Amino acid sequence: MSKIVILTGAGISAESGLGTFRAEDGLWAEHRVEDVATPEGFARNPELVMTFYNDRRAQSYEASPNAAHVALAALQQADGFDVVIVTQNVDDLHERGGADAIHMHGGLTTALCHHCGHRWPAPLVMDLADTCPSCGQTSTRPDIVWFGEMPYQMDRIERHLSECDLFVSIGTSGNVYPAAGFVQMAKMSGAEALELNLEPSQGASYFDKAINGPASQIVPEWVRSLIG
Ligand code: APR
Repeated sequence: MSKIVILTGAGISAESGLGTFRAEDGLWAEHRVEDVATPEGFARNPELVMTFYNDRRAQSYEASPNAAHVALAALQQADGFDVVIVTQNVDDLHERGGADAIHMHGGLTTALCHHCGHRWPAPLVMDLADTCPSCGQTSTRPDIVWFGEMPYQMDRIERHLSECDLFVSIGTSGNVYPAAGFVQMAKMSGAEALELNLEPSQGASYFDKAINGPASQIVPEWVRSLIG
């Protein structure tokens, strides 16, 4: 059984109409990271942060999975492969495309109580006045991993990386750690590394092979080369 670990980033959802971060018209061109993607920003102006993620939640629910998401789901269901998808994305397009994924940066579909740690399905529009269904406090926040916080499920991810035969990176610029270091961890365990991206990423030199182009074209082609 060939084990494949696939890391995805914002680029896999770009053709579904969702913004990436570091493009000229990306999310970080419109918002300051320190204002909307840090615990300090949330403490300083929680309304701004709630609005930022409410807007992204609405956009992601209006978006549809593209051929790349669907192709990865087909690979996950194919015989002969053990496929683990680790995503930096907070949209649920992998799931709506039929795959399951480890969300290392959290997700827009759940709300988190910063008082007791309880998680529950997020309403389309989260409000600071919402109370936690478990502890009753008005202490809800987006279930998103912000800069300076520990990504989710790192032990599980690192175990998968240590066991994989092939590491594939799709639609990420390789700017943000720990995800940007996954290719080196996989290669230290003897894996081959393939980058599928619109253009060479920051970490392109760590990969054995690269295919550049839009994900909705190159990902289905790559999957077909594996499962026909
Ligand atoms: N097909 C394939 N790749 C694409 C496409 C596309 N249609 N469009 C853009 N890309 C590529 C870009 O070339 C770029 O390399 O996707 C990558 C997107 O990079 P970023 O905008 O930096 O997004 P990402 O790598 O996912 O960011 C990682 O940074 O700010 C944090 O938490 C945030 O999860 C995010 C993390």
